[in-house]
Amino acid sequence: MSVTVRIPAKVNVQLAVGAARADGFHDLANVFLAVGLYDEVTVTPADELRVTCAGPGSGQVPLDRTNLAARAAELLAARHGRTADVHLHIAKDIPVAGGMAGGSADAAGALVACDALWGTEASRDELLDICAELGSDVPFSLVGGAALGTGRGEKLEVFEVGGTFHWVFAVADGGLSTPAVYREFDRLTPKAPAPQASRALLDALRKGDVGALAGAVTNDLQPAALSLFPSLAGTLAAGAEAGALAALVSGSGPTTAFLAADAGSARRIADALTASGTCRTARVADSPAPGATVL
Ligand code: C5P
Repeated sequence: MSVTVRIPAKVNVQLAVGAARADGFHDLANVFLAVGLYDEVTVTPADELRVTCAGPGSGQVPLDRTNLAARAAELLAARHGRTADVHLHIAKDIPVAGGMAGGSADAAGALVACDALWGTEASRDELLDICAELGSDVPFSLVGGAALGTGRGEKLEVFEVGGTFHWVFAVADGGLSTPAVYREFDRLTPKAPAPQASRALLDALRKGDVGALAGAVTNDLQPAALSLFPSLAGTLAAGAEAGALAALVSGSGPTTAFLAADAGSARRIADALTASGTCRTARVADSPAPGATVL
């Protein structure tokens, strides 16, 4: 018997970052949108905890207990007085180390899958607690859709989106370390103001107004990501030239995100980005997408 859970990637349509806190994290006003690029996590009973991974970039995914999905299984098991004796298989489609919360998605997926396999029947609140312990983006990977994240990103206020948005994601050659991008942010922004959610942006999402959304997207980590990965400027320019309504770095990068007017435009932007030679590959995806789902 096995259980498979599908979990979406995310893009941050607003990522407002404050100064570093005493615990090293940064306060955020973080507007998450789940997008239709998915990983799948399958758990099967085994003699001991084992992780395997297949798909693009899977060679960079750790297969030991430092893998966030393995830690998710162990945390749930420990809370319920059992051992995490499962084989976790991750079918990767979310860019690895790309700023789209792929590792967080796998952790949320492993948690929901183990809960179902073991019959733990953990409450939604308990699952969200474990998610927050695992990482700032993990609670959102569980809930999906759209949400405003505050604190270090883990306190979520879910809201409805009034339409479908069409995106293109340009996958870079290589990855960026999230802590390194935050350190570069600190260096570039010695006096970061307290982060504040943009009302215009939240209104645009609620109305499904793509033009208003395009005018409101921001990412405070973008200068830091560009400083560490300068070639991303060329990718952003290529997408804008191909007709994207907005172009930004996704989270801590190096994936770049392009908002398109409609599905046809998204296809054309993806083709132009692929042909531009400024990225490894370009993917189209719609948002919002559902959170962790048992298949
Ligand atoms: O929470 P998570 O483990 O995903 O965070 C990874 C790293 O990103 C942290 O160790 C920290 O360096 C940085 N981070 C931060 N402030 C946040 C979220 C993440 O500084 N709100």
